[in-house]
Amino acid sequence: MTKDDPITQKVKNMYKKYPYPSPSTDVSQTNELLNLLRIFEIESKIKLENKSIFDAGSGTGHRITNVAQHFKKSSFLGIDISDKSLSIANKLKKLKKLQNIEFQKYNIMNGVKTLGKFDLVLCMGVLHHLSNPSNGLQMLTKTLKDDGIIFLYLYGKLGGHKRMVNKEIISILLDKEKLNYDLGIKLARDLGLNKFDYGWNLNFKNKKEEDALIVDSLLHANEFLYDCNDIDNLFKKSNLYGYAIFGITAGTEGYLFDASITTDKKLSIPQTNIAEKLKTKRSLSCYKLLNLKDKLRIIDLIYEPNGYTIIGLTKYAYDKLSNKRIKRNFIKIK
Ligand SMILES: C[S@@+](CC[C@H](N)C(=O)[O-])C[C@H]1O[C@@H](n2cnc3c(N)ncnc32)[C@H](O)[C@@H]1O
Repeated sequence: MTKDDPITQKVKNMYKKYPYPSPSTDVSQTNELLNLLRIFEIESKIKLENKSIFDAGSGTGHRITNVAQHFKKSSFLGIDISDKSLSIANKLKKLKKLQNIEFQKYNIMNGVKTLGKFDLVLCMGVLHHLSNPSNGLQMLTKTLKDDGIIFLYLYGKLGGHKRMVNKEIISILLDKEKLNYDLGIKLARDLGLNKFDYGWNLNFKNKKEEDALIVDSLLHANEFLYDCNDIDNLFKKSNLYGYAIFGITAGTEGYLFDASITTDKKLSIPQTNIAEKLKTKRSLSCYKLLNLKDKLRIIDLIYEPNGYTIIGLTKYAYDKLSNKRIKRNFIKIK
């Protein structure tokens, strides 16, 4: 068996003690992933039943088991490096009486090619914790079928500033005790920093669950943050046909992403609305003349996301896709 690199080892030790999103199987509100996939289904008219779905870094499995419960005719594989998280995921599988999901222990950084090929790969809140996210993405795209699709959730740099400031305060106070998560949790509570942005499960029921959130958001052993330029660089090194930002989270709000001026109002979900933000005719006409990447950057700078949901597509997936919003926001790499 290939040894884990030192960063992965550190991350693994952290999740061993504080499995994410929750050490408890009794959690009600972890529907974010299912909601995302249902929106994708509605907008794209692609059915996610009878598909093979791979969740890379499934954690304690709360989110992916909700998805497996919904898409009963699809087959699921969840992998994670944390034994503790995997054991909770397996408990959930049993509790929910699921036959269509397996969990395995695997380190993404050691390669995942042998796991097979999938219609859909999910890597939500994981890539930014890898020792080398760019290599990680390349490993994951190798598991896509020719018409495969990948969804990623990545931390946002522009909206992550305050969290990083708070993280640094705790880190400095911890001094030589940086890996003392228990003390870090106490400091976070003392300083009133146990408030969370969108993306963390805000409906925690007990102290243990809140501890896991504090560790994940303020004491994490390894994380990278991204803006839309970093995302572009990340995808440029992948072997995908291209990508689109599917949604952003900013503050405690989630938005479907659209760089165009006229937004689709069919879905009753908030969408980025640049016309509302730029306000004047002059600034809007300047905006209209920009290329897509510059439009993305303007939205980035105005909304300051703390997270991005990104869809990466193979060429065949792109050709098959009827989702107009994704197509008009799509950035081709090749
Ligand atoms: C923030 S949690 C996200 C869990 C889940 N995707 C969710 O959204 O609820 C990150 C997970 O990634 C896993 N992880 C981190 N590095 C990994 C690696 N190299 N290989 C596999 N899993 C990894 C961690 O153990 C942890 O469970």
